[in-house]
Amino acid sequence: MHNVTLIKGDGIGPSIMDAAVAVINASGAKIHWHEADAGMSAYERTGTPLPDATMESIAQTRVAFKGPLTTMVGEGFRSINVELRKQYDLYANVRPAKSWKGVKTRYDDVDIVIVRENTEGLYVGLEHYLTPAKDIAESLAVVTKAGSERIVEYAFKYAIDNNRKKVTVCHKANILKYTQGLFLRAAREVAAKYPDIEFDEKIVDAACMHMVMKPEQFDVVVTTNMFGDILSDLTAGLVGGLGLIPGANIGADAALFEAVHGSAPDIVGKNIANPTAVMMGGVMMLNHLGEHEAATRMLNAIEKVVNGGVYVTPDLNPDTKYGTQEMGQAIVDAME
Ligand code: NAI
Ligand code: MG
Repeated sequence: MHNVTLIKGDGIGPSIMDAAVAVINASGAKIHWHEADAGMSAYERTGTPLPDATMESIAQTRVAFKGPLTTMVGEGFRSINVELRKQYDLYANVRPAKSWKGVKTRYDDVDIVIVRENTEGLYVGLEHYLTPAKDIAESLAVVTKAGSERIVEYAFKYAIDNNRKKVTVCHKANILKYTQGLFLRAAREVAAKYPDIEFDEKIVDAACMHMVMKPEQFDVVVTTNMFGDILSDLTAGLVGGLGLIPGANIGADAALFEAVHGSAPDIVGKNIANPTAVMMGGVMMLNHLGEHEAATRMLNAIEKVVNGGVYVTPDLNPDTKYGTQEMGQAIVDAME
């Protein structure tokens, strides 16, 4: 029996998480879910977007399965996602984007894993105004040698463990000589220890163009926090959109699994949110827990339904008659 903290989240969160939990429960993995609150819905109920009870639950289970959280707009409110990643030192954000046989896109052979540094860079939250009139603002990026080395190490180990051939570092060291320069130097040093994995360097803006024109030249990509945020939405677009891409946030002794997308306020309550991305996060979680058979069973069922193209949400098939709930049920029914 595995203990997992379940955070259903905001917006489309509860509907896609209910569908994903039903599928995980049907996979054969034995999970004891500990439901906890976070985000806008927690704020409305309890006055804080990250209640102590939620932090205590994750501190005990060390594994969380989380729906998207709405980031409260306005100065002073920090992103709860960023906060959770920082609190548990979830330094590696792994976001795989792979073409699906049944999802029509420009390419059918994309298979890119973004490994994003998740605790440093421009997202450390060191932002402020320099003038009382608030007409000059500054934001600081923090990059450490240790933080850079461990994320690049993670990318190479991931490549070896997952039978991958190549790691590309995406950076902007030509302009940001100190922060990005440090990251690039660390990447080169770590890469030298892994002669069996091909190593490539790309400046991030050029990398975007190459990814859109010739995505097959990318395998594992390692990069700093904000570039990884942006590049992973790009790779999501290459394989059929945000409704398909999971994200694993991994630390030394805790991990949190989710979708890359947000709470999608524009489609709440319409039964059209695609539950695939969080379900794929569930597959990553089962593998993390050592439940490889259940993970494979779940992945096969998801692939059958997504590639079947019938019991899917409208982002995958504009003529569909079905939505989130029917798709979730079809995946439960497809489980062998
Ligand atoms: P979003 O990812 O929620 O939505 C972007 C677009 O993609 C929207 O048109 C939405 O309808 C569509 N979309 C997203 N997920 C979908 C799904 N499963 N099925 C079908 N269509 C889907 O990004 P947005 O609108 O920028 O952010 C909304 C809120 O979510 C913000 O408060 C943001 O801070 C938060 N957010 C939270 C994340 C997390 O919890 N990990 C990640 C990204 C954003
Ligand atoms: Mg993002």
